Amino acid sequence: MESKKILSVKNLNKSFGDFKAVNNISLHVNKGDIYGFLGPNGAGKSTTLRMVLGLIKPNSGEILINGQNISGPNRNFLSSIGALIEKPDFYKNLSAYDNLKILFKMSRLKDTNRISEVLKEVDLWDKKNQKVGGFSQGMKQRLGIAQTLMHQPSLIILDEPSNGLDPQGQSDMRSLILRINQDMGITVIISSHILSEIEKISNRMVVINNGEKIVEGNVQELMQNELLKVSFKSENLESISSFLKKQSIDFEISNGSIVANINEENIPLILKKMIKENISITEMKQMRTLEELFLGLTK
Ligand SMILES: Nc1ncnc2c1ncn2[C@@H]1O[C@H](COP(=O)(O)OP(=O)(O)OP(=O)(O)O)[C@@H](O)[C@H]1O
Ligand SMILES: [Mg+2]
Repeated sequence: MESKKILSVKNLNKSFGDFKAVNNISLHVNKGDIYGFLGPNGAGKSTTLRMVLGLIKPNSGEILINGQNISGPNRNFLSSIGALIEKPDFYKNLSAYDNLKILFKMSRLKDTNRISEVLKEVDLWDKKNQKVGGFSQGMKQRLGIAQTLMHQPSLIILDEPSNGLDPQGQSDMRSLILRINQDMGITVIISSHILSEIEKISNRMVVINNGEKIVEGNVQELMQNELLKVSFKSENLESISSFLKKQSIDFEISNGSIVANINEENIPLILKKMIKENISITEMKQMRTLEELFLGLTK
């Protein structure tokens, strides 16, 4: 399978005053991905996506779209991107069609058929003459997506598109995103603070928290044992940490427990050794799912 990078982010940093909102984040999105951007509130998702769109400037780092550095004078990378950041804004007294027509004119497009096409693509053709003021949240989100598709981008960026939608609306949103990706061949970046949402549609993802990258990779692999972590509690954490150091096992200490990266097949052996060395453990927990890992790290 082709895996050409459509977006590369390298060592990206952004501070607001003294506050580091994005801390040295690197990641890449391959052509054809539905790439999940997962992180709790305030993680730095929107800030990172805004930098990718050139809406705000990073303090340092590099952003390449199709290999082109976006900080250069050439802004034509924007013509290959569509984006929905935060809630879409519309003229409430105008119909869906007329809202799109305004965008159509601003984008200096030629063929008005494009308006009908995108309305059909997002399943709003039946509602084209209705005023947007009466639209449900899900319909507004879909109209927002129609806007992102208007100029036929090769990449669209959707910042929490399922926010505020009921389960039916969320499911419609997922089918729409899958259609956009599979039928139209558009690469999609979607952010969310809900793992299950990303897990359902993304093939690759990054998890960020407190402005830092926690992990990036293939979603299925991340959901399997790849990332198995084991947390230990003990009255004597020091004895565990020095043991792990001796075994060259990576670990970190958080909230009074030690979280170690141990291959699943090595766990029995490690435990045997610990017992042999009389290391007392009051609790040992395997953190299997990314959710546990994610929540564990974000508590
Ligand atoms: N313009 C700004 N000025 C000051 N602080 C900001 C600004 N924009 C974002 N921040 C801060 O940066 C951090 C990251 O914000 P960001 O909006 O990127 O998070 P997020 O992951 O998108 O969160 P959410 O899920 O709530 O949308 C937050 O603590 C936020 O308060
Ligand atoms: Mg956000």
